[in-house]
Amino acid sequence: MNYRDTRAGELTREDAGRTVQLAGWAARIRDQGGVMFVDLREATGVVQVVIDPASHSQAESLRREFCISVSGEVSLRPAGSENPDLPTGEVEVVVSELHILSASQALPFQLDERADVDELVRLRYRYLDMRRSRVAANLRARSVAVAAMRRVLTEAGFLDIETPTLIKSTPEGARDVLVPSRLQLGDFYALPQSPQLFKQLLMVGGFERYFQIARCYRDEDFRSDRQLEFSQLDIEGSFWGRDDVLATIEAVMVAVARDVRGVELATPFPRLTYQEALDRYGTDKPDLRFAMEIADLSDHFAATEFNAFASALESGGVIRGLNVGAAGLSRSGLDALVDDAKQAGAAGLVWMVVEDDGSLRSPVAKFLSADEQAALMEALAGTPGDHLLIVADRARIAAEVLGRFRTRFGSPEGHDELNFLWVVDFPVFEETPGGELVAAHHPFSAPVDVEDMATSPATAIAQAYDLVLNGSELGSGSVRIHDPDVQQKVFEILGISPDEAERRFGWFVEALRYGTPPHAGFAVGIARLVSILQGEPNIREVIAFPKTQTGVDPLTGSPSPVDDHQLAELGIALRPEVQAARDEAAGSGAD
Ligand code: AMO
Repeated sequence: MNYRDTRAGELTREDAGRTVQLAGWAARIRDQGGVMFVDLREATGVVQVVIDPASHSQAESLRREFCISVSGEVSLRPAGSENPDLPTGEVEVVVSELHILSASQALPFQLDERADVDELVRLRYRYLDMRRSRVAANLRARSVAVAAMRRVLTEAGFLDIETPTLIKSTPEGARDVLVPSRLQLGDFYALPQSPQLFKQLLMVGGFERYFQIARCYRDEDFRSDRQLEFSQLDIEGSFWGRDDVLATIEAVMVAVARDVRGVELATPFPRLTYQEALDRYGTDKPDLRFAMEIADLSDHFAATEFNAFASALESGGVIRGLNVGAAGLSRSGLDALVDDAKQAGAAGLVWMVVEDDGSLRSPVAKFLSADEQAALMEALAGTPGDHLLIVADRARIAAEVLGRFRTRFGSPEGHDELNFLWVVDFPVFEETPGGELVAAHHPFSAPVDVEDMATSPATAIAQAYDLVLNGSELGSGSVRIHDPDVQQKVFEILGISPDEAERRFGWFVEALRYGTPPHAGFAVGIARLVSILQGEPNIREVIAFPKTQTGVDPLTGSPSPVDDHQLAELGIALRPEVQAARDEAAGSGAD
């Protein structure tokens, strides 16, 4: 049997008079006594089909989401009954033959777009959820985006090369997902946190342009923009410097935005250094859809008598302020900001409200001289009603606190805007709260100056850069270290002993000793990109089968226990306390 000869979503008034065969799902059924109107939905769209139940014995049993095939004549809808919201809304198909291809049992939720369905239920029945236009549109957009990536890069001479997913750990700062080996009992593979080291080996191997839509796995805390498994557009090039990488990624983004959103992005994207981004916006991923800039007020208070400010400056700190506009907060609302600032690590926060006469209302206004108040108003461009927030602290904390308030109070005007930004010159290392140095990006990024890194690692700059879109980190990359001695030096500064470096990365550093070309690269989180393009607040919406916040797939029920013999084959036993907890949970479940 043929199922169809025409696609439902493509019918127009031009088709009137044609006999067509369509196949799809009965999305909506309206029985109007003697005539049934059915919205037939398939991948290209929806068209109304009209069924006379008296002539079709199967019509009576037809229910929502039955899969059907119909034949019939396309006719113009009677005047006044057209549906302007539907691309096919001028026509309908008058059914002469109806076949039920498969029935659907009662639905767990209405597939109606407007129905607000609990996410857990949506994920449990994801195959139904994706019949709805929201998820369907997102997954299509994702496919269009990936096709654009492949096209641009293939045309530019990049080769799509797969790298293994059962590997030795690569450090990207998260916990590894481990896979036990059956053939080497007691040994484990790690799933890649990214293809980082393999793509570098491809450069050693002479492939000068590589890309891959790579699956990555990171066991880290979930957030709205993080999943346990995700995909990156991963690229690497030899005889390349930073600007080659940036131009290539820009070309990819231009094509993606054009194909997915129909917009032309202007290039080159603006650039900020990491330090500028922190100083002016309080974050390394500023949302520049709105201006709201942090101002450095330290100079204005160099001679202040206000103790909190003076002592911050004395201990090498800064005084920074942010005008969050006329936020209309009450006294308790303003005081709550002080608590928020303290929670974020600041010693305190000074708030001021600009009164109608231009004076400042604040518990600390009386401690500031008229000159200081005037300088403050000028630096923060205060106008009546504005709320001015001031932090006197270490630069890092001032940035952190004011950056958070900027994100909270700033609002982009045009929600559709795509604001791309490069943040360049990241540091090589960053300090943990415990004072340890860790790689700011990953340990394979090249320092700008090797000598400088060796003498002052805490402030050394790396040839590392991020791509930011509307305040989200979309991707990261760097010029890599291609000198094995520099690589060793980085391990040393990171406190990785020569033995440990040899055990974990010896295979990689060895490869660097065989004439490694200078190389650089980048990786873009695909779900992050597509979720922003689609205006989705959570990357789960652009992933076909995502996991919940706790790493569970409600559809299949993974992760799940395995049979004892499977564990035995792998030489694995659950630790007694884990087994006991599971037994107890199973026992209490049985009660
Ligand atoms: P990085 O670790 O910054 O760089 O990752 C690059 C991009 O991948 C996305 N991403 C994620 N998306 C969803 N869920 C996650 N858990 C997750 N983690 C990261 C983000 C991020 O910007 N090997 C380097 C790249 C390189 O240097 O070439 C790397 O993986 O969008």
